[in-house]
Amino acid sequence: MPVPKAELHLHIEGTLEPELAFALAERNGVTLPYADTEALREAYRFSDLQSFLDLYYALMAVLRTAEDFTDLADAYLARAAEQGVRHAEIFFDPQAHRARGVPIGVVVEGLGAALDRAEERHGISTRLIMCFLRDEPAESAMATLEAAKPYLDRITGVGLDSAEVGHPPAKFREVYEEAARLGLRRVAHAGEEGPAEYVREALDVLGVERIDHGLRCLEDPSLVERLVRERVPLTLCPLSNVRLRAVDVLEEHPLRAMLEAGLVATVNSDDPAYFGGYVGDTFDAVRDALSLTPEQLRTLARNSFLASFLEDDEARRERYLAEVSAYDFGA
Ligand code: ADE
Ligand code: ZN
Repeated sequence: MPVPKAELHLHIEGTLEPELAFALAERNGVTLPYADTEALREAYRFSDLQSFLDLYYALMAVLRTAEDFTDLADAYLARAAEQGVRHAEIFFDPQAHRARGVPIGVVVEGLGAALDRAEERHGISTRLIMCFLRDEPAESAMATLEAAKPYLDRITGVGLDSAEVGHPPAKFREVYEEAARLGLRRVAHAGEEGPAEYVREALDVLGVERIDHGLRCLEDPSLVERLVRERVPLTLCPLSNVRLRAVDVLEEHPLRAMLEAGLVATVNSDDPAYFGGYVGDTFDAVRDALSLTPEQLRTLARNSFLASFLEDDEARRERYLAEVSAYDFGA
């Protein structure tokens, strides 16, 4: 059994496997511009974030009904359970669906139906985080937040994703202020392709509690010092970084150095259908590529629960942490 862990950086749309994409395409009468699943997999060669996002948004065309979102989330949860996930904080991109005529209510109700059964079926507790697309205007993000208001009982927080460079966090100051007023937790992608300055801005202007990726914080030693001192968690996604060419090869990923520097690093899968592995696979891959010690792996698992939004259920967090402490890495 893999080490128990929380997954904190997972785009549900990025769990759409080719087989399910074709099944949903057929169910909804959508034609995909690929002959079969093999031809689609052939397209999974990315040169950067944008080249991935182009395919990621195009394939969303098959997601139309609440049932589609339920099936998508159910498939993810089943795979996540096999990989040792005990708690999942799941991103979704309501604007990308709204633009295709799928209202946020359909998305949230569909995902919610799967999440409601997640504990009983898969032994996984869950939270939902709605992300704003940073390459869309801030007004669109604000309108989406407004549209989400009837569903806030199902939504724990807000995030910021999509094409990073040229779209600094400060563009979303008012949206995050409103999210804070509504009692939502705040995270943001920063320092994936964008500069260390975006990480600072996400903290100082948006008031985020975790940084998604944050890789490029390493270019600014005083920022690293601050992240260590303030114990700001980073949700790293090493397989994503290699596939999107932020890092050449996994052996050169700075995860181990980040742990040794005292950063609160966590390991996550980002868009596992596209990047070659779910989160348990990712743990195995970084263990092997970076020769991580059992204690470093335990720290990663502990960090995942410490960084999770479980403040409303501390007893559960303690149970998960006890499972990590009791885990035998066989070393
Ligand atoms: N949307 C889905 N995956 C993403 C990533 N890694 N970065 C930014 N936006 C995303
Ligand atoms: Zn991401």
